[in-house]
Amino acid sequence: MHSFSFSSFFLVAACRLAHVLADLPLITDYDAYNAGAYGNRPNQTFHSSDLVSPRFLVNKWDRNASTVGSHFFMAPAAPGMGFTPIILDSRDLSLVYADPKWDGGTDARMQMYNGSQYLTFWSGYDFKGHGTGGGLMVDTSYTEFRNLTTKGLGTGADSHDFKMTGDGGVIMNNYHTIVTDLTSVGGTTNSHLLDCAFQEADVETGEVRFTWRANDHFHVTESRTDSPFEETEDGWDWFHMNAISKTAQGNYLISIRHLQALALINGTDGSRIWQVGGSNNSFRDLSGGRATNFKFQHDARFVDATEREITLFDNHNMAPGAAPTPGCTVDCTRGLRIRLDYNAMTVQVVSEFYHPVGVQAWAQGGYQLQSNGNALIGWGVVPAMTEYNAAGDIIMDVQIRPWDTTEEGGGPLYRAYRFDWVGQPTWGPSIAVVDSVVYVSWNGATEVASWALSGGDTHVTLEAMDTVPKAGFETAITPPRAASFFRVNALDSKGNVMGTTDVLDVASGEVVGSIIRH
Ligand SMILES: *[C@@H]1O[C@H](CO)[C@@H](O)[C@H](O)[C@H]1NC(C)=O
Ligand SMILES: *[C@@H]1O[C@H](CO)[C@@H](O)[C@H](O)[C@H]1NC(C)=O
Ligand SMILES: *[C@@H]1O[C@H](CO)[C@@H](O)[C@H](O)[C@H]1NC(C)=O
Ligand SMILES: *[C@@H]1O[C@H](CO)[C@@H](O)[C@H](O)[C@H]1NC(C)=O
Ligand SMILES: *[C@@H]1O[C@H](CO)[C@@H](O)[C@H](O)[C@H]1NC(C)=O
Ligand SMILES: *[C@@H]1O[C@H](CO)[C@@H](O)[C@H](O)[C@H]1NC(C)=O
Repeated sequence: MHSFSFSSFFLVAACRLAHVLADLPLITDYDAYNAGAYGNRPNQTFHSSDLVSPRFLVNKWDRNASTVGSHFFMAPAAPGMGFTPIILDSRDLSLVYADPKWDGGTDARMQMYNGSQYLTFWSGYDFKGHGTGGGLMVDTSYTEFRNLTTKGLGTGADSHDFKMTGDGGVIMNNYHTIVTDLTSVGGTTNSHLLDCAFQEADVETGEVRFTWRANDHFHVTESRTDSPFEETEDGWDWFHMNAISKTAQGNYLISIRHLQALALINGTDGSRIWQVGGSNNSFRDLSGGRATNFKFQHDARFVDATEREITLFDNHNMAPGAAPTPGCTVDCTRGLRIRLDYNAMTVQVVSEFYHPVGVQAWAQGGYQLQSNGNALIGWGVVPAMTEYNAAGDIIMDVQIRPWDTTEEGGGPLYRAYRFDWVGQPTWGPSIAVVDSVVYVSWNGATEVASWALSGGDTHVTLEAMDTVPKAGFETAITPPRAASFFRVNALDSKGNVMGTTDVLDVASGEVVGSIIRH
């Protein structure tokens, strides 16, 4: 029933061999996976759920060195299949949550607001590379809390970034078309320009706190797109802002893909305080050009409140297929960390992380610095995710699909994140019986430790039969004896009942009577 594809996994060693495997194991055969032996979108389906989840290829994973954050968050954007946020268990990459009802889903992550966790992502209408819609905040019960958008800009919030400010606000990106004089770049006095703006709004009231428009503060001649001026109906995409964060000082760090630059924007008057990279670079590069030669970058963020270091995803090229992927050796995509010195006005490379087999991602991508110093890199249109420690050792390297950087195949990992998350859905767990095996799952529930099976000859005479550990998204339980009706209780780590499935009539496959949920 669902038109999207994401998958789930499960650590073979953790499986109780007495039980039928429900989640399929992680794949480790690089050659077979990349040759398409598992299909172009390796996935799996379940009996107790309509969800489809991705099947990952694990090239490397040192689980002991990869310890921060209970869950992965991502929104695999697969053209033709829709988008949706997904949450995966970071112990085994098994599916934890997905819901195709969300209309969109770029930039799915956990963000804190007013002391609570929210699943945040963008939802709306995508116009190939930018969009108009809203920033969603979904609480830990997966109930919509806010759907915020920009005001007075003609279009709504764009798909690239929806970033909490830490002081009750959220920043939304925006793309809108204006008519302006573009004679300086080969246009007319009335040319269409696809301008960028960002707006900070109060999450509680939706009230706009600050609006900033690129064309007021930057000049079109600063654009460094890969193609010359071209006037499309939407306008020339000269700026292409894709990340905005409010700094501890109340200014804004922005990433401008089509200027190949980052800039610090004054939070009072909107002026440019400084710029790294691009045609108006403010810093002398102490690393032989490598600290400022990033191109078409994404996800630039200050490392901490001292604002001395920035991490970013340096795509480095935006021509699809320009370099072999894998096998890139020149102008490859990297995770880049730079250090700024505001007295000397210098910049230098702190670290550069390349994909282990060399890739060039022409679009998308993210760099999440974790609290233990590790970097989690989602390679954008290159369907891979890699974690490095501060020394650059590869801690984890996985693929969500076989190699493919085409537009049709690409975009599965706009950004990948890892966070702690406790999800307690308002709905209960689901049950199915197939070939005398009972299958149970609970979309979004993170605290289930085990499943307690009851069965009986009538739906009112159910007796406890067996308790098995939860294993991946869907757990299979082989009943110790036959029964006409089954029900499963979800137990937490202390054995408390957290939720109960309907009672399933094995003969008809129908549920009989709803049980009061806990
Ligand atoms: C899952 O994989 C199968 C086999 O390769 C494929 O036919 C199917 O289209 C995939 N499903 C989705 C939703 O991508
Ligand atoms: C990981 O840690 C566990 C328990 O601390 C230990 O038993 C195991 O050998 C470690 N594995 C590796 C690969 O270091
Ligand atoms: C913040 O959360 C507290 C409860 O934790 C609540 O009383 C308060 O109304 C919330 N404030 C906002 C602005 O949402
Ligand atoms: C959120 O609002 C935007 C418009 O502001 C709309 O495009 C989008 O579909 C909404 N998302 C959901 C899930 O309702
Ligand atoms: C930001 O702009 C305000 C108002 O013009 C000015 O007073 C302040 O010095 C500026 N801040 C920086 C860091 O340039
Ligand atoms: C460089 O940026 C400054 C503002 O910081 C601006 O005044 C100037 O016009 C820009 N120069 C070019 C060549 O764009």
